[in-house]
Order: sequence, then structure tokens, then C-alpha cells
Amino acid sequence: MEISCHLGDITTTRVDAVVNAANSSLMGGGGVDGAIHRAAGPELLAECRRVRAEQWPEGLPVGEAVATGAGRLPARWVVHTVGPNRHRGETDPELLASCFRRSLEVAHGLGAVSVAFPAVSAGVYGWEPAVVADVAVAAVRETAPAAATVQHVRFVLFGEPVLAEFERALGA
Ligand code: APR
Repeated sequence: MEISCHLGDITTTRVDAVVNAANSSLMGGGGVDGAIHRAAGPELLAECRRVRAEQWPEGLPVGEAVATGAGRLPARWVVHTVGPNRHRGETDPELLASCFRRSLEVAHGLGAVSVAFPAVSAGVYGWEPAVVADVAVAAVRETAPAAATVQHVRFVLFGEPVLAEFERALGA
């Protein structure tokens, strides 16, 4: 598995599966979530409503992941995951590691070969980019053997400071 990091907008990244930093409602929001829903179009929200009704009526738990189509995005799938929210006292790094692990496992199950991740929880949910980078890189490296179809993982980041943390974590 090749793991890389880049500056960019995840909604324009040409991969099989784009990971969304969602919230438990799956009904959209700001940040990555808002950008993905805007770019994907209303069919994404319609599919999220079906996922809620059929699979997660109580909402998607923190650390879990679920796939939908990608609407008008260049990707084939969106894998929605819910990061831990530091402002709610969700400070266990294992919850954040689970987001990356479960998203990769779901992508593998779909047969995705390439996956793009944002820095889940590093925005509204208040986690330090340095911690997110360390947790994300370790979780992806640990999950790689089990997610054998996934050959390329790209961390797509907003802003030089976050990119620098992922470059540091990847170099470690
Ligand atoms: N492409 C790549 N990265 C992005 C993009 C984008 N288009 N937009 C924002 N980011 C970056 C942010 O700068 C941050 O570093 O993604 C990281 C995650 O930020 P958030 O999107 O705020 O995600 P998170 O911290 O997990 O908070 C999730 O925010 O948008 C709501 O509905 C969402 O309630 C949920 C919460």
C-alpha cells in the first residue's frame, strides 16, 4: 500500500473512495462534510437518509464508517466516518484510529483501489493536527494488510500546517 499526503480539496480528488468527516446524523454539515455534499449534489443526502433508515436509525456511531455512492463527485464512493469531538470530551485516540481503520475496511469491502482521507477531527471537532496525523498514519499502516485491495491512500489536506504534520508523521 502506497501512502502519500497532498494539499488540496478532497472533493476534486480522483480516487475510488473519498472519506467524509461526517457527523452521526449523516445529514451534512460544514467543512469537508459541507463541501462533499455540495459537490456531490442532493442525491448524496437522499442516499444518506436511506442509510440512516435502513442501517443506522440511531445515527452513525463515533469511529464507525459507512459507504454511499458519490453523486457528481469524481469518486465512485463516499465513505462517511464520524470522528471524535474533543469539545464533547471524546479524547480517546482509539476512537479516531477506528475512523481510519473502519473506513479502510469498508473501502476494501467495496473493492476500492484508491482512497482519499481528510484530516478527520482536525477541524470543527477540535483535535490537534499533529495528533490526528500520528493516529491516522499509524492506523492506516496497521490496517493495510487487512485492506489488501487498497493500493493507494492519499491524505488530502487543507493548509500547509496540517500538511507538514502528515509529512512528519509519514516520515517517522
Ligand atoms: N478538502 C480537504 N480538507 C478539508 C476540506 C476540503 N474540501 N474542507 C475542510 N477540510 C479540512 C479542515 O481544514 C480540517 O483540517 O478537513 C479537516 C477536518 O475538518 P472538518 O471538516 O471540520 O471535520 P471534523 O473536524 O471532523 O468535524 C466534523 O464538522 O462539518 C462538520 O458535519 C461535520 O459535524 C461534523 C464536523
